[in-house]
Amino acid sequence: MRRKLIAGNWKMNGLRASATHLVQGLLEGLAGAEPPCELLVCPPACLLETVGGLIAGTPVALGGQDCHGAEAGAHTGDISAAMLKDAGCAYVILGHSERRSDHGEADDLVRAKAGAALAAGLTPIVCVGETAAQRDGGRTLAVVEEQLAGSLPEPGPGQALVIAYEPVWAIGSGRTPSNEEVGEVHAAVRRWLEARLGGEAAAAVRILYGGSMKPGNAAELLAVPDVDGGLIGGASLKAEDFLAIARACA
Ligand code: PGA
Repeated sequence: MRRKLIAGNWKMNGLRASATHLVQGLLEGLAGAEPPCELLVCPPACLLETVGGLIAGTPVALGGQDCHGAEAGAHTGDISAAMLKDAGCAYVILGHSERRSDHGEADDLVRAKAGAALAAGLTPIVCVGETAAQRDGGRTLAVVEEQLAGSLPEPGPGQALVIAYEPVWAIGSGRTPSNEEVGEVHAAVRRWLEARLGGEAAAAVRILYGGSMKPGNAAELLAVPDVDGGLIGGASLKAEDFLAIARACA
């Protein structure tokens, strides 16, 4: 039985004061109770220490939004997986469509980053998803499978992995695929994982849906078979909305 994961991708938002306010709101909303899912926040790198300090000892986990594929060295401006781990992270988002478009990240780079994350003891959250043109062209499953094949590291024993299916056209747009469309892609990802990893290992991988998930649509999206949680952008910046989505897992 996979425990659902609700992950907040804060993107390039927040300063120490607003981040503190947001996390305090989350913790007050939880009021010491165990949430009905695993909760994760992924703030910008410079806020990891502030946020990590506030959530230490709570059910909320910490994650990064990207890491470099190399262990260390001359990579000005970059952050290694070991640095994220050292800052208290358990997860790192990799290959988000905004990284793929803003920074030209291709599948092989995402694969190197995912390998580095695993080596450092982090669980990579590898993002895949089609553009509007690819969906209109009937290529959604082909695109997603190609991204999986190119972006995932070689399988290894005991490897912890999360996949996030995020249709590019649904991110920040207020539009979402139908429940049937989401179910079709998630089932295809699960079948692909089964072929690659074997049934048991594939069954342990959580497949998140991301793209305009909100309190109003979370319950139905989270009820779709093989949707094991959500990767939440905009709605993760309001404690009330993020908690409402978490409660929709119950
Ligand atoms: P959104 O972003 O929830 O604002 O659509 C999701 C994401 O990009 O991870």
